[in-house]
Amino acid sequence: MISKSELEEFFAAVDGDFPVRLSERVNIGEWCEKLLSNGTVCAEAIDGELAAVVAGYANNHEEKTGYIAVAAVKRNFRRRGLGAAAVSKFIKKAGDAGMETVYLYVHKSNGAAIRMYKGIGFKEVESDRTDSLRLSVRCGDIL
Ligand SMILES: CC(C)(COP(=O)(O)OP(=O)(O)OC[C@H]1O[C@@H](n2cnc3c(N)ncnc32)[C@H](O)[C@@H]1OP(=O)(O)O)[C@@H](O)C(=O)NCCC(=O)NCCS
Repeated sequence: MISKSELEEFFAAVDGDFPVRLSERVNIGEWCEKLLSNGTVCAEAIDGELAAVVAGYANNHEEKTGYIAVAAVKRNFRRRGLGAAAVSKFIKKAGDAGMETVYLYVHKSNGAAIRMYKGIGFKEVESDRTDSLRLSVRCGDIL
């Protein structure tokens, strides 16, 4: 079980690594609380240290659609498959919770993340944002 302080510390460490800083978009403390109480948080740890976090929501039972709000890996743990593993975990959890698809937005300039998501099986769908792609995957397509 991840604590709020662990999650806050993780997001503080990766805050500047997003095309738009996380702390510019959300109040990180309140956001962590919301994610831990209503959301789905998937993580990968190395030697007890939180290395990768993928978090969002898998509770839209009307539309059966899960949403990844954030995915990040600490710099020193990148390119080891941890990001892709945590995203896959999220999709599986969402499927178990009754979601049929999972979607997310990724900034058009974020080549590394786009490559990771497409490698997992996400496809581009019509986006309602000019600066970001909207990607979607069917939970059943991820083994
Ligand atoms: C995007 C991010 C989560 C990837 O995490 P990661 O653990 O390094 O990714 P993985 O090791 O699972 O990589 C899976 C595949 O994604 C692609 N990929 C990941 N990082 C890449 C990079 N810097 N350049 C090119 N391709 C990359 C590769 O195809 C990689 O497979 P390979 O290593 O076998 O070539 C990480 O770079 C990150 O935290 N970035 C900052 C935060 C961010 O932008 N998050 C996404 C917001 S939507």
